[in-house]
Amino acid sequence: MRLEKFLLQSHSTVKEAYEAIEHSQMGLCLLIDENGKFIRTITDGDLRRLIIKCGESSVLLDSLDPIQPLWANRKEGVSKLLEIMKEHDIQHIPILDDDFKPIDVVLRKNIESPPVLLSSPHMGENEINFIHDAFETNWIAPLGPNVENFELEFAKKIQSPHALALSSGTAALHLALVVLGVTSGDIVFCSSLTFVASANPILYQGATPVFIDSEPETWNMCPSALERALKHYGKMGKLPKAVMIINLYGQSANMDALVKICDQYEVPIIEDAAESLGAQYKGRPSGTFGKLGIYSFNGNKIITTSGGGMLVSEDEDLINHARFLSTQAKDPANYYLHSKIGYNYRMSNILAGVGRGQLIVLDDRIHSRRTIFNKYVSAFKEMNIFDWMPEPEGYFSTRWLSCGVLQNFNGDIELKLNSFIRRGIEVRRIWKPLHTQPLFKDCDYFEHEKGNSISDAIFAKGLCLPSGSNLTSEGQDKVINQIKSLL
Ligand SMILES: Cc1ncc(COP(=O)(O)O)c(C=O)c1O
Repeated sequence: MRLEKFLLQSHSTVKEAYEAIEHSQMGLCLLIDENGKFIRTITDGDLRRLIIKCGESSVLLDSLDPIQPLWANRKEGVSKLLEIMKEHDIQHIPILDDDFKPIDVVLRKNIESPPVLLSSPHMGENEINFIHDAFETNWIAPLGPNVENFELEFAKKIQSPHALALSSGTAALHLALVVLGVTSGDIVFCSSLTFVASANPILYQGATPVFIDSEPETWNMCPSALERALKHYGKMGKLPKAVMIINLYGQSANMDALVKICDQYEVPIIEDAAESLGAQYKGRPSGTFGKLGIYSFNGNKIITTSGGGMLVSEDEDLINHARFLSTQAKDPANYYLHSKIGYNYRMSNILAGVGRGQLIVLDDRIHSRRTIFNKYVSAFKEMNIFDWMPEPEGYFSTRWLSCGVLQNFNGDIELKLNSFIRRGIEVRRIWKPLHTQPLFKDCDYFEHEKGNSISDAIFAKGLCLPSGSNLTSEGQDKVINQIKSLL
C-alpha cells in the first residue's frame, strides 16, 4: 500500500476516487490541497452520497459536503490513536506530519489486536513442576535445591566448571568486576555497541569505561581497535583492569583474535554473553572464553527466569568469592560479622525452578529463532532490503534477534519505526552505541578505522525484527508483509 497512490486533489473525479479506494485496500482515500496538505478522508459511502446528490460519476470531488476532518499528528502514541478512533467510532485515522501532510493511515484493527512482540517469554512444560517443588518443600528463598541444581545443570550445558545463579545479568557483571579487583580510578575497556547494562557496573565501581568499536564481520568488538587502544593506554602505563567483550544478538565475538591480544597485554576478559546463551565459537560455548562470563535471563532473552543472571568461570576461587559477596559478604561466625561490602544478588529458588525448566528447552528455542531468521532472509532475498548481521564460518549464532541494516534507505528511521509500531509490530532499533550516550560523553572511543565507526553505521540504519521463539507463522507473515509494504 503506497500512500501517494490514494492521495487525490479536489479536481479529481468520483471515478478516480473509487480507483484510489480500491488501491488503498482500506476502503478510503485522502483528499489533499495543491500543497499536499490534508483536507479530509473520503470513503465509498461519501462517494455514493455524492453520486446520489449529483447523479453522475464524472463529478469532481470539490462537490463533497464539507466535514470536520479527523486526523492525528505523527507524534501521537498508539493509545491516543485508539482513543480517538473509539470516541468517533471510526476504523482508520490519517496521520499527518507537522506540515499537515498525510504520511500514514492507521487501521484500528491493527492496534486493537495484540501486537507482534520483539521477543517475549516462552515457557516450556517443566517450569511449573520445579516451582511446584519449591512450594511443596517451602524453599521460598534465595537458596535451595532449584538454585543448586540450576547452577550445576547450567554449568554442564555450557561446559564451564563453576556457575553462580544471581538476580540479574547486571549483578553478574558487577560481581565479575569486583572479584577482578576493579575499583575507583581503574579503566575498563568495553564494546561500544551494546545495552547500557554492560557498562553501568563499571561506573558502580567508580572506574572509567573506554569504548571499543565493532568490526563489520561480527558486529562485535573489533580486534584491531582493541589492539590500538591497549597500545595507547599501555604507553601511558595505564592498562585496563579488564576488557569486557559483548556477544551481541546471539553471536560470539572473534574470540581467537581478542583473547590473543588480551593475553599479550595480560588483561583479563569478562565475556558478556547476556544475549548469546547457546551460541558457539569454533564449537565452544559463547561466554566461556574469558576469565569470567555472564548470562542474562531477563524476560526477553532466549530463555528467561523473568529476571536473573549467571556468572561462570573456570576459576573456582573467583566464583566462591562472588558467591560470598552476593549474599551480603557474611564472614564465618555464629553471628552477623562483616568485613567487606556485600550485595543482595542471589537468585530465588522459585526463579531458579523456572530456569531449570527453560534450560531443558534451550536447544528448541535456538532452533526456532534460527528458523525465524531464515524465513526473514528468504522473504526479503529478492528485495535486498537488509544487510543481515553476518554469521561467519566457525560461528554459530542463536539469532536471538533477527537483525539487519537497511540497504539503500535514506529516510528517517524513527518515522519508519513509528509506522511499524502503528501497525502493531514491535520493531526495535539496534543499540545506540555507548560512546554516543550522554552518560558516557567524556569517555574515550577507539573506532574500527580512522573516520569509520562501524557501531555508528550499524545503529544509523539497523533494526531488530520480532524474533521470539513463540512467534507464530501468521505473526511473522504479518511482519514480513508490513515490512514489504513500508520499505
Ligand atoms: C548485552 C547485555 N548485557 C547485560 C544485560 C543485563 O542483563 P539483565 O537485564 O539480566 O541485568 C543485558 C540485558 O538485559 C544485555 O543485553
